Amino acid sequence: MYNSKITGLGYYVPENVVTNDDLTQWMDTNDEWIQERTGIKERRWIDPKTDDNTSSMGAKAARIAIERAGLTKDDIDFIVFATLSPDMYFPGGGVRVQDMLDMPTIGALDVRNQCSGFIYSLSVADQFIKTGMYKNILVIGSENHSGGLERSTRGRGVTVIFGDGAGAAVLSRSEENGKGILSSHLHSEGKHAKELALEGPATGRWVPEIIQENDPNDVSYYPHMNGQFVFKHAVVRFSEAIVEGLQTNNLQATDIDMLIPHQANLRISQFVQKKFGLSDSQVHNNIMKYGNTTAASVIIALTEAWELGKIKDNDLVVLAAFGSGFTWGSVIIRW
Ligand code: ACO
Repeated sequence: MYNSKITGLGYYVPENVVTNDDLTQWMDTNDEWIQERTGIKERRWIDPKTDDNTSSMGAKAARIAIERAGLTKDDIDFIVFATLSPDMYFPGGGVRVQDMLDMPTIGALDVRNQCSGFIYSLSVADQFIKTGMYKNILVIGSENHSGGLERSTRGRGVTVIFGDGAGAAVLSRSEENGKGILSSHLHSEGKHAKELALEGPATGRWVPEIIQENDPNDVSYYPHMNGQFVFKHAVVRFSEAIVEGLQTNNLQATDIDMLIPHQANLRISQFVQKKFGLSDSQVHNNIMKYGNTTAASVIIALTEAWELGKIKDNDLVVLAAFGSGFTWGSVIIRW
């Protein structure tokens, strides 16, 4: 068995800043409501005049991560790409990044796990490395939410939360014992699939059907969320996944040096922080600046924390996420 270690990190967010006040041009909302309920002050939304999209943002983040790993694109053996907002219904973003970076004909896998997409992807990459199949894997999380949100008062419960962006990590084979990814823990509960979903277009709700019905009240092609229901499950599942990760490695909450929670809501992060008795400097949040970037959120926050010097050699770093599916999980890393 080999160990796997993160050797490179990068992120990219579109330049266009959309403040809470900016949102009032489309919907009845206000800065106070959004900040009080979510902690969000602003988010990045792709300016349609630019060439940013889910895969191109992923490719930009990937270039940085590969360079920081001290590698070239030709050293990468495999791509895992997580998103809920692909450029096309098919194929997925992984092959698009392979092409954009002019990589050899390596394999590319897309992961459809929404907010826990990066956690799942990192776990998949970890298994490929631990079995010896691959040496360097590019793991990307990227989202273009702004292209598919309902910009109206009807959609405000969801639209104000989400932002665009991408992050990438290079996971590499390592000979160092006790370092790198110690364990990952993945869960799902599909009975709650419709509590946070975008139902069409998909084969269960295909385009001709939507057009034919032409129903002004049809919102099936916009994301919808039972916010309070999701919130209640999120705080429980986040905590469970972290406890499971700590117990597996015979660790305590006091061993955590840095927690990177998925940036769904600052209140959820604060709840988890309090539950595990962590100080502000032990939890990295950036939802204030970027909103919820779903599959990109954990990797953007991890990269940012690392860039700020908040993560040092030998630190115990815990990643955790919960979201649509429901799916959730954690990754425990000895840096
Ligand atoms: N601006 C102003 N008012 C609003 C807005 C808005 N943007 N959105 C909703 N409201 C109103 C509602 O209409 C409602 O009004 P009413 O009481 O007159 O009916 C009131 O505010 C309260 O609405 P709630 O939806 O009950 O607000 P809540 O306190 O639950 O906050 C939120 C909503 C922020 C979405 C919260 O429920 C939440 O964070 N949920 C969890 C999100 C999460 O973890 N998601 C998982 C990851 S996402 C993924 O996987 C894709």
